[in-house]
Amino acid sequence: MNSHQLSRRLTAVASFVPKGSVLADIGSDHAYLPCYLVQKKIAVSAIAGEVAEGPFQSALNQVEEDGLKHLINVRKGSGLSVLEIGEADVITIAGMGGPLISQILEEGKSKLAGVQRLILQPNINAISIRDWLTQNQWKLTAEEILEEDGKVYEVLVAEPSESAIELTYTDRLLGPFLVKGNSAVFQQKWREEYKQWERILQQLTQAEPSGMIDAKKEELRVKMKIVKEVLR
Ligand SMILES: C[S@@+](CC[C@H](N)C(=O)[O-])C[C@H]1O[C@@H](n2cnc3c(N)ncnc32)[C@H](O)[C@@H]1O
Repeated sequence: MNSHQLSRRLTAVASFVPKGSVLADIGSDHAYLPCYLVQKKIAVSAIAGEVAEGPFQSALNQVEEDGLKHLINVRKGSGLSVLEIGEADVITIAGMGGPLISQILEEGKSKLAGVQRLILQPNINAISIRDWLTQNQWKLTAEEILEEDGKVYEVLVAEPSESAIELTYTDRLLGPFLVKGNSAVFQQKWREEYKQWERILQQLTQAEPSGMIDAKKEELRVKMKIVKEVLR
């Protein structure tokens, strides 16, 4: 992968960036995504935010190597703190766990005024992002699920909503668009999760009973029932 040829995962993220966007890519590492989108003239300019020194230097180097310093601003800092209000209209956050992405959004809430689209690619626990979106009046407008190198990734796209958003637990767990799509990759992901939950449930059944264990077992049973129905 490089800034001319993205991975399948980042290609999926890029495909949701509207032409003419001013992009902020948070946790940008090599800045491949902003470099690609600016080179393709999909983004007119971009900000690449990165908290860690090594990846920040890699992003700076990549932007310089691609001759894009005048169009891509690489900034060091955590989450949305690198942004001024109203600077970017599209934000991408990719390649992290869902809880970390939700935390970045929560801590940077004030910077989201004026942002028209969030494109989020959690590696795990997409439910925490769907929870954050619904609690903060962001409406899911698209989702994609794909496999690359034996790993399954989800891409969530959201836009601000005027009205309150409600999603059922099934939709928050599995993704409303992904449930409808019911693709082979989706089936594979949840079949594997189901098997793992079955193993955990078995272990919990053998453990010393307690309120916490019972609650965990009940949570697993609820999730397994939902997934079983969807996989049917
Ligand atoms: C696994 S990499 C993903 C890089 C790229 N976004 C991608 O999808 O290929 C995650 C990057 O996010 C950065 N990161 C983690 N927490 C961050 C935060 N709070 N603010 C900015 N960057 C963060 C890490 O330093 C790392 O470079």
